[in-house]
Amino acid sequence: MIESQADQDGKILPRFQSPALPRLVYGCGEVERVGELVLESQGRRILLVTDPGVVAAGHAERVEKSLKKAGIDYAIYDRVRENPTTEDVNECVAAARRERIDFLIGLGGGSSMDTAKGCNFLFTNGGEMKDYWGTGKATLPMLPMIAIPTTAGTGSECQSYALIADEKTHRKMACGDTKAAAKVALLDPELTLSQPAKVKACTGVDALAHALESAVTLRQTPMSRIWSREAFRLIARSLSRVLSDGADMSARGEMMLGAAYSGLAIENSMLGAAHSAANPLTADYGIVHGQAVGLMLPRVIAFNAECPEAREIYLELVSIGKLSADESDPELSIRELVAYVDRVLEQAELAVDLATLGVEESRIPELSQQAAEQWTAQFNPRTVLAEDFEGLYRDALRPRNSTVPSGTKAESLGK
Ligand SMILES: [Fe+2]
Repeated sequence: MIESQADQDGKILPRFQSPALPRLVYGCGEVERVGELVLESQGRRILLVTDPGVVAAGHAERVEKSLKKAGIDYAIYDRVRENPTTEDVNECVAAARRERIDFLIGLGGGSSMDTAKGCNFLFTNGGEMKDYWGTGKATLPMLPMIAIPTTAGTGSECQSYALIADEKTHRKMACGDTKAAAKVALLDPELTLSQPAKVKACTGVDALAHALESAVTLRQTPMSRIWSREAFRLIARSLSRVLSDGADMSARGEMMLGAAYSGLAIENSMLGAAHSAANPLTADYGIVHGQAVGLMLPRVIAFNAECPEAREIYLELVSIGKLSADESDPELSIRELVAYVDRVLEQAELAVDLATLGVEESRIPELSQQAAEQWTAQFNPRTVLAEDFEGLYRDALRPRNSTVPSGTKAESLGK
């Protein structure tokens, strides 16, 4: 977080402290080193937390093989569901207690890693998930964990936050503590090959949103900016390739790194209004997270670009992503950034308006109220109130009108 102080000339200097980073182990086939990595961390009794799709894809088996080879005892909890709830975490904790574990592996998308982290809070510190809503509320040591993503999207492998929904209200609670962060983020691009096309599209768009949102928040620091910028550079040049050619391993590798770097950025800087607007759409309509975030993102960028500090950062990202035909024209460059996100959504075959997804206009005031109450809204670079979310949602009812002149870079991206 930026805490500022003024120097003798009145110039504001940032002050920040970076959290401990997970050790990143990256490369095709590296998943087979998991047993060795557990031994290095002195894990003896493991709970492998995953979901049925990941098991069916054969990834859990590869992990098991490596654990067996290293002579490590393990048990599997393979009942993770999308958008895990307090109930899911409780069930996972019961398995952890039954098996008397001393180490966790989260294998899968964000949901598996969030469930493993949520389990870690309750297994080691007791109580309920709501006791840890916020930051740094765990007082006792937590178990070491290895996070192994099978999607390139959430960046959960590089964050200390577990996103757990309340079973009854479906409101997402972000429960964070540096002790809950994985010791190792094991990034093996081969594991993303099994993603269904829709998952690839939604997680890729989510990663793009993470890079763009974390870059401009009020909490961004000199260090988070490094991660956001590099994440955006990697994602801007690889997402379109991954969407058009599933076999392009170099693009998949860049996406996986881009998603992890975005996660590191978020750990330092949090997220903004696109995520605030997306959460009620997921909670009330069951719209998949990446779809909801991606649909709101172009509107939020246009909204935030009115804020000079955010605008400056967006222009820098336009340059990093080589998105503009004429960087000397800031108005055009911002429009090209917005149009680029539109193009990605189109290429990912995601919906570009809320009406298509069944969102009724009459529900907008209620959704806007919920969006304004989201944890991430406070970090948006431009103050965003319920009335602002109402404007963003109303605009999102219909497809956006692209105002980028023909022949520009954004127009040709993704074709
Ligand atoms: Fe997200």
